[in-house]
Amino acid sequence: MGGFMKRHTIALGGAGLMLGVSLLAIHAQELTGELPDPPAFAAQSEPNFVSVTDILEYKALPEYHEPDWVTKKYVDAGTLPPVKDRLPKEPMVYKTGDMPDGIGVYGDTMRHVIGGRPEGWNYIGGQSQGWGGIDIGLSECLTRTGPLFEIKADELEPLPNLAKSWEWSEDGHELTMHLIEGAKWSDGDAFDADDVMFYWNDNVNDTNVSPLNGATPETFGVGTTLEALDPYTIKWTFKEVRPTQYLYAMAYGTFCPGPSHILKPEHPKYNTANTYEQYKNAFPPEYMNIPVMGAWVPVEYRADDIIVMRRNPYYWKVDEAGNQLPYLNEMHYRLSTWADRDVQAVAGSGDFSNLEQAESFVESLKRSAEDSAPARLQFGARTIGYALRMNFSANGWGEPDARGQAIRELNRNLDFRKAVSIALDRQRLGDSLVRGPFTAIYPGGLYAGTAFYDKASTVYYPYNIEAANTLLDGLGLTDTDGNGIRNLANGGGDLEITLLANTDYGTDTNLAEGVIAQLEPLGIRVIANFQTGTARDDMAQAGQFDWSVERQGSEMVSVVQGTTALAPTGPRTSYFHRAGTDGTLDLLPFEQELVDTVNAFVATSDNAERVALMKKYQHTYTENVYSVGLTQYPGALIVNKRFANIPAGAPIFMFNWAEDNIIRERVFVPADKQGDYELHPETLPGKPGGAGPV
Ligand code: GLA
Repeated sequence: MGGFMKRHTIALGGAGLMLGVSLLAIHAQELTGELPDPPAFAAQSEPNFVSVTDILEYKALPEYHEPDWVTKKYVDAGTLPPVKDRLPKEPMVYKTGDMPDGIGVYGDTMRHVIGGRPEGWNYIGGQSQGWGGIDIGLSECLTRTGPLFEIKADELEPLPNLAKSWEWSEDGHELTMHLIEGAKWSDGDAFDADDVMFYWNDNVNDTNVSPLNGATPETFGVGTTLEALDPYTIKWTFKEVRPTQYLYAMAYGTFCPGPSHILKPEHPKYNTANTYEQYKNAFPPEYMNIPVMGAWVPVEYRADDIIVMRRNPYYWKVDEAGNQLPYLNEMHYRLSTWADRDVQAVAGSGDFSNLEQAESFVESLKRSAEDSAPARLQFGARTIGYALRMNFSANGWGEPDARGQAIRELNRNLDFRKAVSIALDRQRLGDSLVRGPFTAIYPGGLYAGTAFYDKASTVYYPYNIEAANTLLDGLGLTDTDGNGIRNLANGGGDLEITLLANTDYGTDTNLAEGVIAQLEPLGIRVIANFQTGTARDDMAQAGQFDWSVERQGSEMVSVVQGTTALAPTGPRTSYFHRAGTDGTLDLLPFEQELVDTVNAFVATSDNAERVALMKKYQHTYTENVYSVGLTQYPGALIVNKRFANIPAGAPIFMFNWAEDNIIRERVFVPADKQGDYELHPETLPGKPGGAGPV
C-alpha cells in the first residue's frame, strides 16, 4: 500500500534530547484529549424488532413435506424413511409472520466465496473449515444468537435451538435444559445428551483439545459443572446465581456439539492407539458426508476450488406449512480470496459477501447503486474494529526468547503502551483504507456502535509523536548505537518487535503496514510477521507473538457474546494474555480490575448495574491502553437480489456473522428467479466417509 510518508523524521533517534521535554512534565492529563465524534453514518435499514416467540416455536404439525424428488428417488425406493419419521416429535417451526417474504419454495443454491481453506471437519477437535459461514451452516448449537439483532432490546435473550427450553432452579445455581427430542444427525443417528456430554467432557474439559472457537471450561464460569439427567435433559450447575450470560456462550461457536458416534472412536480416551493430533486430523477435507446437525452436508471437495454441500435429509426445522427446511438444496463455497468474495458478490457470480475490507467500499458502492446491479448492498452500524494487541504474558505463554521476553515486559509498561498509542495517527490509518464518512478514530475498548459504549468513560490519547518519544526516552529506551533504532535499556540490542497479521485480508496487512511505518519515527523497528489465516490463528492461540494487528471479536460489539474474552477471566479466555508455563496468569493490577468487573457483569442480570460495570470497564481499559485501538467502521451486507426472506437490517456482524443472522435455512429463491447452479441436482449426502452424494 505504501501510503505512509515519513512526516515525522525529525523525531527519529534521541528525540527526547532534541526536544528537552522533561518526563515529569508529561502527566496523564496532558496526553489525553477530546475524542472526535465519529462521522455521521446512518445504517441503511432498520430491523423489524420482534419477540423470540414471534420467530419460532417447537410443535408437531399435522403433515410434513419435502422436495418431490426426495420422496420419489429415496423414500419411494425405500432408501430413506418418510419425512415424518426423519423429523423430531416436535420440530422447530419458523413462524410465517417473521419471514419477510413468507413461506418459500425448494431449489437453487447459495454461492459463497471464501478466502479460508478447510483443515478438516473436526470442528470440536479444533479444525477450521475455512470460515465464511461454512462451519455456521454445518454446526447447530444449544442456543442461537445471530438473529438477536432483531429482538426487542428489553427482551434480549438467546434463541432456543438444540436446547428447546430451559428453567432455573429456585436458588439460581442450576439450569436444566431440555434438548430437542428425536432429532437426528444427517446420517440418521440420534442426537442426544451423549453428543453434548462428549463435547463437554472430552473436548472442552480435555485440555489436550482446543475446540475451534476457543471454548474452555471458564467460558461457562470457573467451577461450572454439566451432567446428563436423561437422553434429553442436561443440568448445569453454576457458582453464580442465575448467570443468564452463559446462555450466550452456549451459542455459536462455543457450544456446538459434534457427532459423537463418529468422533468418539478417534478420541484418545476411547482409542488408545490414537494421539490427540490424530484425533484432531482424523477427518481431513477429503472425508465426505461428515454427519452434521446443520442444514447442509459437505459432499464434494476440490482443493483450492470448491466445497459443495447438499441438503441434510434429517434437518429438524420446518416452516408452518410443514415443509422441511432448508429451502435451498445446495450451498457452494468457492475457495478463493476474501477480496474476491466482494468482487463476485457485486458482479453476481457469487451470491453473498460481508463487505468488511474498507478498501473495496467505493468500488462496490458504485456498482451496486446501478439499477442493473445483481446484488443488494446495505450498510449497517460501525461494528468492525481493528486493534494492535500486545502479548501481556511475562511468565512464559508462547515461550519467548530473551528478546521476546524483554518486549513482553515493555508491553506490560503503561508508559510504553501510551507511547505506542500516541505515536499512531488513527485518522491517517483510517483514511489510508478508504476516504469518506466510513472510518472513525478508535481509542480501544468497546466500539462506539454498541449499546454499552459510553463516550464519557472513554479515555482518549490523541496523536502526539513528541510526547511519545519523550515517554520512551524516560524508559531508558534510547538509540545508544546511533543507527536510528532505539535500544533496549541497559545496553540491550535494537528495539525490534514482531507484528503478527493475517495475509488473507488486505485490511489486516494494510493496517499492520501502517503501524510499522508510523512507528518508524518513534525509533521502533516493527517487523512484519505476516501469515496466512490458519497459521496466524495457530500462532496467536499458542501465544507466539509480540504484537498482533487484528479484527476483534463480538465481545467488543455485543459485550454479551464472548464476554469472558473481555478480560483474562480464566487461564485461556483472553486473546492476548493467557496462562504461562506454570498454568498461572500474571495479571497486572488493572487487569485484575478488568477481570473483577467482567466477572461482576456476568454475575448480575440487573441492567443498570451492567451498564455501570461496562462504563467502569471502558474507563479502566482505555485509560490503561489495554489494546491500542486503530480504526472502526461499518460493514455492508451484499446478497444477490434473487434471494427472498433476507431480514431487514441484518448486520454483517453483531452477536454473530451475517451467515447466522439471516437464518439461511429460511432463505429461498422464488421459482421464477431460480438459477441453474446446482452441481449435484437431485442427490443427497451419502454415507459418512463415502465418496460423495448419492
Ligand atoms: C470470516 C469472514 C467474515 C465472516 C466469518 C464467518 O471471518 O471474514 O466476514 O464470513 O468468516 O465465520
